[in-house]
Amino acid sequence: MGASLPTLFRRPAILWSVLAAALAAAVVTVLLVVPGTDDGPADGNGDYLDASLPVDERVDDLLSRMTIEEKVGQMTQVTVGAIDPYPTDVAEYGIGSLLNGGSEALFSTAEEWAAMIDGHQAQALDTRLGIPLMYGIDAVHGNTAIPGAVVFPHNIGLGAAHDPGLAGRAAAVTAAETRAAGIHWTFAPCVCVARDSRWGRTYESYGEDPGLAFEYAGPVVQGYQGEDLAANTSVLATAKHYVGDGGTAYGSSTTEDYLLDQGVTTLTEDELRSIHLAPFQAAVDAGVGSVMASFSSTDIGGGPVKAHADEYLITEVLKGELGFDGFVVSDWQAVDQLSDDYNEAVRTAINAGVDMVMVPFEYKAFIAALLAEVESGGVSVERIDDAVSRILAQKFALGLFEHPDADTAGAADIGSDAHREVAREAAAASQTLLRNDGDLLPLTGQESIYVAGSGADSIGRQTGGWTASWQGSLNPPTEGTTILAGIQQVAPDAAVTFSEDASAPVEGADVGIVVVAEDPYAEGVGDAGAGDHDMAVSEADAAAIATVCGAVECVVIVVSGRPVEIEPHLGATGAGSGVDALVAAWLPGSEGAGVADPLFGATPYNGRLPVTWPHQTDDEPLNVGDPGYDPLFAFGFGLQTA
Ligand code: GLC
Repeated sequence: MGASLPTLFRRPAILWSVLAAALAAAVVTVLLVVPGTDDGPADGNGDYLDASLPVDERVDDLLSRMTIEEKVGQMTQVTVGAIDPYPTDVAEYGIGSLLNGGSEALFSTAEEWAAMIDGHQAQALDTRLGIPLMYGIDAVHGNTAIPGAVVFPHNIGLGAAHDPGLAGRAAAVTAAETRAAGIHWTFAPCVCVARDSRWGRTYESYGEDPGLAFEYAGPVVQGYQGEDLAANTSVLATAKHYVGDGGTAYGSSTTEDYLLDQGVTTLTEDELRSIHLAPFQAAVDAGVGSVMASFSSTDIGGGPVKAHADEYLITEVLKGELGFDGFVVSDWQAVDQLSDDYNEAVRTAINAGVDMVMVPFEYKAFIAALLAEVESGGVSVERIDDAVSRILAQKFALGLFEHPDADTAGAADIGSDAHREVAREAAAASQTLLRNDGDLLPLTGQESIYVAGSGADSIGRQTGGWTASWQGSLNPPTEGTTILAGIQQVAPDAAVTFSEDASAPVEGADVGIVVVAEDPYAEGVGDAGAGDHDMAVSEADAAAIATVCGAVECVVIVVSGRPVEIEPHLGATGAGSGVDALVAAWLPGSEGAGVADPLFGATPYNGRLPVTWPHQTDDEPLNVGDPGYDPLFAFGFGLQTA
């Protein structure tokens, strides 16, 4: 039997009134301390608006004030195209982040970008707690969303340069030209390790050797994020795609029309760690603020697991073992791939450790699904709090609470000569000389030069994918100097004839330069054999090589995101027969003069292959160290000139 009540309380009327008072007091107490109730407005004294406090204290204070709806809103990233018709939804749903995919050039100037972002920011600030939003974009080789911004060589060319410091300087210029437009966050660098050059994202990799990505990750992350993430020249960086995106097997893609991209990487765990995980350790050690999960899957023994669903690799390894304290963002609509049951897909991704979901369209459905999962216990409040804390910490570090609106002071430097010089230096350093019979190169610049090929006068081909649009464009996607113009600029005394298809007479020229090129592509669209793209030289470019190199001494320059099947077009070695000199130019970006510089000896050739160059496409995957390794040109190969 329980203890007896004191006499006073044995009279029902008194007992009930005392109980009622106690209950009322309890309810009031609960309301005051239950997270999510506003314990009075923040005034900047000792609360999350107090910039003098350490970030973790500001995060804890803000988190304690947030409702579950506000927390889930912070985990929601929406494409700007989906929110534009409903701008007040940023406030109504407390959306934490916006983006536009594919580095789309939605506006012409930094000021217009800033005005658009500030407009959405005003909505975010017009909320109970005034939590600013983050805007993200794929400024992966320059802020190509702004015509006239500098476009750097894609990562594969930077890898050929074997100069992580230079890549870091390129990232710093990109960061400045991105934040000047009011954009806070770039989805770069890709620290993917491309193991099969048939992959349409090979050019986003620094190369097939994980040591390259490992060496580049730190300097590039620091280039983007700077010493102070709140500076108007810094942006939040993203190490992507976690993990193993570059190791998928040909034909394993889970996405229709693709062959490699978004496929399955089947390795032992040790192999996965040594090849694909190592670069993320370097990025984490450099303080990267976000990591993007990969569309692909890994199979380390127990069958394929989608990266977005992999609690072991995201939470135990990335966040636990590697010590990553930033936030994990999903890839574009990647959560939808996890299950036909959307609630299950959301639950799986969030419980695996995804902190922010790039929805990016049906944000109301995402928010409803996640709230329902929290309500049902499918996702714990602790997991939500962990995710939101990680996101808020980066927003505080970005200085968004103090300076939520764009600072376009740096807009005047977008496309500046100083910035272009860095891009030209990077393009020149990436040039990789693979043949130089008779020491044809460097040229003197006094020659009569015949220039042909599809890549000679095409900003679209020399910048490649992720340039002003997802897939890039053959219509000039941005301003820049073509390789032809670069030749004319670097060798003003040369007599230059240009005939893209080599239909003009070649006779009389001292030397020919044939610039063959891939058309731009991105992601699985570029998977060789998947659709319009392969690793062959186009018929027109092959014909131009035959015409020009059959008539005069010639240089073939390959503008591509990966090796191409060049061997059938090289002809015999030896001066005066076939192709005398061969240069891999990769995707050099907007500064075509950088391709011309080593051609005329203004800078030396010093590039070295970051990927193996196969005899033929079907030799892939072919990587240094493979048994029976027999490439056309080996990983690390490159001729030097003075
Ligand atoms: C894409 C890419 C990713 C990019 C994101 C946003 O699908 O996989 O690299 O950052 O979507 O555009």
